[in-house]
Amino acid sequence: MSKTAEVKFEGKSYELPVIEGTEKEIGINIGSLRSESGLITLDPGFKNTGSTKSAITYLDGEKGILRYRGYSIEELADKSTFLEVSYLLIFGHLPSESELSDFQNQIKVHTLVHEDIKKILEGFPSNSHPMGVLSSLVTSLTAFYPESLDPNRSSERVNLSIIRILAKMPTFAAWAYKNEVGHPVNYPDNNLDYCSNFLKMMFALPAEKYDVDPVISSALNKLLILHADHEQNCSTSTVRVVGSSQASLYASISAGINALWGPLHGGANSAVIEMLENIKKDGGDTKKWMAKAKDKNDPFRLMGFGHRVYKNFDPRARIIKKAADDVLDKLGVDDPVLDIAKGLEQVALNDEYFVERKLYPNVDFYSGIIYRALGIPVDMFTVMFALGRLPGWIAQWKEMRENNEPIGRPRQIYVGENLRPYVDLKKR
Ligand code: ACO
Repeated sequence: MSKTAEVKFEGKSYELPVIEGTEKEIGINIGSLRSESGLITLDPGFKNTGSTKSAITYLDGEKGILRYRGYSIEELADKSTFLEVSYLLIFGHLPSESELSDFQNQIKVHTLVHEDIKKILEGFPSNSHPMGVLSSLVTSLTAFYPESLDPNRSSERVNLSIIRILAKMPTFAAWAYKNEVGHPVNYPDNNLDYCSNFLKMMFALPAEKYDVDPVISSALNKLLILHADHEQNCSTSTVRVVGSSQASLYASISAGINALWGPLHGGANSAVIEMLENIKKDGGDTKKWMAKAKDKNDPFRLMGFGHRVYKNFDPRARIIKKAADDVLDKLGVDDPVLDIAKGLEQVALNDEYFVERKLYPNVDFYSGIIYRALGIPVDMFTVMFALGRLPGWIAQWKEMRENNEPIGRPRQIYVGENLRPYVDLKKR
């Protein structure tokens, strides 16, 4: 017998179907509620609203579980590569050896970008924030590949658009950085793997030999895997909603990049480092900054703490904290900001305010410290997040299209003025 839930309103009762997921998550399907009762549900910030049924990522915020297509994030971060995880997210299964090598080769073929895109890049002032440049360059792909505009084209066409964006995103990201520092851009080196190629485009300087440090490349691989998907978060929901209007993959991903930019989402990783630097400059008194974070009259929040869904711990933060220690150790980096971060974490974990509200370090609390150790500048942190999140956005966009989901269009409760007569300008 399928389960139902009952809503009672003004003496009438309405029976609604209950949907159960494969991990026993349950939700009430309110699809018929409005037509039967006139009621809508109100949930600002969609804190308790499921927008879709998805088979991509499972997370349990209470238990700190995160799985991509059923595989634990711990195992994937330990054993796989970013492109393998990308394939898994997008196509639903771990690739065989030949599928993986085919996928990698296809990506290598498409890493170059049209020379005219360089002209667009050159039009941006130096110092432009790389996130704005990245989202613009991604949108520009719609002009260079107009066949990508129609998301209803054959699956081969859609797959080609997917390969192109996966291949070109590291080039765009590295070029956005080069533009910011005013250096000439580097072209892709297709002899290298995905992460090493990106690092070379970021850091190689003209007439200087650049060898990718395998410690750095492998740390980057882990970071990208940890960021690869996170079900219906702000930027992913944006990608799905934009795509639901049948806008193209590139237009949808570009919107996701902009949604990721804000400090409450992907922008948190750079905000964490800025915060830690400020605490250091201020003498390193973590208690003083904790008091600011708790003061409701002070807008300051402890960046990198708290999460909409994780209420006990963020499994990615655990992996990344260990990776931060390893990477700093291997690279011989002694970062005083790491000591402040650890001190802050200890104070917060034992503080009543943070414990009561279940505020724990999230993935971004430590990712900034690793990025710094890898030599990635602060402005680029959110771009790194976008690079990692790309396969998740693609998988979610593709799933939404394949499920033929309707256009995203929430309702509202209007609380403005009732009808009133227009007042002539001179009489106001
Ligand atoms: N510092 C101080 N207080 C906080 C913090 C924080 N970082 N986060 C939440 N709180 C407090 C709020 O003031 C609120 O207190 P109240 O109940 O007394 O009013 C309570 O905890 C609940 O907070 P909400 O903002 O309602 O929680 P929500 O789920 O809406 O927000 C969010 C989650 C945006 C992540 C929030 O915790 C935050 O702003 N954190 C800092 C920014 C950050 O690190 N973002 C990265 C998120 S992870 C990611 O995108 C990869």
